[in-house]
Amino acid sequence: MSSRGMDGLPASSEERAITLARLVAPVLPDLERSEQVLHKLLTSQYAYIQTLMQHIERFRGKRLRPALLHLAAQAFGGEAPTSYEVAAVVEMLHLATLCHDDILDDAATRRRVPTVNANWGNKSAVMTGDILFSRAFEHLGRLDDPRPFRILSRISRLICEGELLQIASRNDLELDEGRYFDLIEKKTAVLFGASAELGALLAGASEADGRKLYEYGRRLGLAFQIVDDCLDLVGVESTVGKSLGSDLRNGELTLPLIHLLANAGAPHKQELLAMLKANNESLTRERLRPYLDRTGSVAYAITVARNELQRARDELSSLPASQARAALIELPEYVLERTY
Ligand code: IPE
Ligand code: IPE
Ligand code: MG
Ligand code: MG
Repeated sequence: MSSRGMDGLPASSEERAITLARLVAPVLPDLERSEQVLHKLLTSQYAYIQTLMQHIERFRGKRLRPALLHLAAQAFGGEAPTSYEVAAVVEMLHLATLCHDDILDDAATRRRVPTVNANWGNKSAVMTGDILFSRAFEHLGRLDDPRPFRILSRISRLICEGELLQIASRNDLELDEGRYFDLIEKKTAVLFGASAELGALLAGASEADGRKLYEYGRRLGLAFQIVDDCLDLVGVESTVGKSLGSDLRNGELTLPLIHLLANAGAPHKQELLAMLKANNESLTRERLRPYLDRTGSVAYAITVARNELQRARDELSSLPASQARAALIELPEYVLERTY
């Protein structure tokens, strides 16, 4: 996994980083401007809170959602002055959900450094996430255009519902693909969808085109989370840069495990169920690996992700040719090969 992607293609993290940089190149100036807005939003007059905000700002993620928003805006060619404000807010909402997610998952590492909860404790991490959420909405409330507030307030609620559905599904060995999809749609796909939709709308796209871009982003997000769930089971922590194995530890079934339980022969299934029921430390990633390999369950999950990505691309068929459209068409390949 460290030198090859899950589908067998070469995919070192350096190569992936270069691919991503190439894909976002058409919107680099836009990303720099939204980064400046984000920087202003991540400040506080209080030293303790400023330390927390700086931690969050200093250790950056991939900025995928703002990139998606700007690429979608550029693909529709219009001037989109509020796109910088909205892209910054989209990233801020993502940061808020990560901050809370790391508490829920008991995660120690994110973006190669300690999580907020690991460094400052759960109490500070809850309030940090809350500040990020509320500051984001404060900012949207100041815009003349009411659409970003309307769309992103609903999306935030859906993400929280997704996280709660995941908590409710802990140790539920009956979780099936349908419920898994419902859960990842809410916790991850909707924000990807809204980012692409808002980019299009802010650039003057019609509502119908906005819906197409939403659908593109939604499917991209579903695939992104499926790949992420594979990485949680078989990825390498030093490459991925965040705590892995938390789904197993928390008794949360994801697509590869759902496939495995449905396809393992009776004796293997009994062994797996016994370990899953014993306690959450019993079925480690190392113990799970040979079972996953026998049923090809990671390969299966990647095939499902690939299918979503093809359908995502299909949504773009009516867009006129442009550099931004080309990047949106290629982004799915990056999602599939990412190892971090
Ligand atoms: C992590 O998202 C959360 C998931 C939806 C799996 P990213 O992988 O986009 O996180 P950063 O922002 O790059 O760290
Ligand atoms: C995605 O869930 C988190 C959110 C969408 C908030 P995960 O728990 O799989 O994400 P990571 O692996 O911690 O980044
Ligand atoms: Mg997590
Ligand atoms: Mg989680």
